[in-house]
Amino acid sequence: MRYKRVEDAKDIVSESPYYVENPTQYKNKWNDVFQNHHPIVIELGMGQGDFIIGMAKNYPNINFIGIEMFLSQMAHAVQKLEKLHLPNLKLIHMDAKDLDTVFGKEIDTIYLTFCDPWPKKQDEKKRFTHEGFLRVYDKVYKKDKHLILKTDNKGFFQYSLESLSQYWYVFDKISLDLHHEERSIPNIMTDYEKRYYVEGRPIYYVDAKFMN
Ligand SMILES: C[S@@+](CC[C@H](N)C(=O)[O-])C[C@H]1O[C@@H](n2cnc3c(N)ncnc32)[C@H](O)[C@@H]1O
Repeated sequence: MRYKRVEDAKDIVSESPYYVENPTQYKNKWNDVFQNHHPIVIELGMGQGDFIIGMAKNYPNINFIGIEMFLSQMAHAVQKLEKLHLPNLKLIHMDAKDLDTVFGKEIDTIYLTFCDPWPKKQDEKKRFTHEGFLRVYDKVYKKDKHLILKTDNKGFFQYSLESLSQYWYVFDKISLDLHHEERSIPNIMTDYEKRYYVEGRPIYYVDAKFMN
């Protein structure tokens, strides 16, 4: 997928107090970075940040880390943060496939929100729910596996359910239309989700766990 380039993204991001430079030095020390022992939740491919910023505002007793490999996307998030003070939020510029170089066993929950579906068979390994990624996640979960996924892409959702269940995850909650559930599931919309919501597209949701 192609995203719009922001000319001075590197400067915008590196000047932000939310941005963590050289994150590998904090492996196994993220609670020290936040100076507390609250749970740590990460979002892979946070894009322009609406979701992770909303979560950090709503849940001050949880630490959030947004991960994004495209600096221009992160620059938009940083601009939204300019007038906010959220000590429980950090942003990392990296490829999610290298998660275990930055984190030890210290992550409570992983959010995958509207990730690129990579529909072609030859790109299967790039999907965030491919077994290769699930193996990496195992290296960073503190104890139990806990992954929450939202997508508008039915094919990717079906693939993810299969891949997760083959990898021993069990599904705590599933929705085939998150915004029209009878018993509503607490939700903060991502940037992409806001657009899809206006278009009336159903959003697929799964909260998947494995208790070790
Ligand atoms: C379709 S956008 C969704 C953005 C956001 N989660 C939302 O829902 O608005 C997918 C994002 O994932 C990022 N991304 C894709 N592959 C990635 C990877 N391997 N590591 C980190 N970020 C990645 C892209 O740069 C893009 O910003």
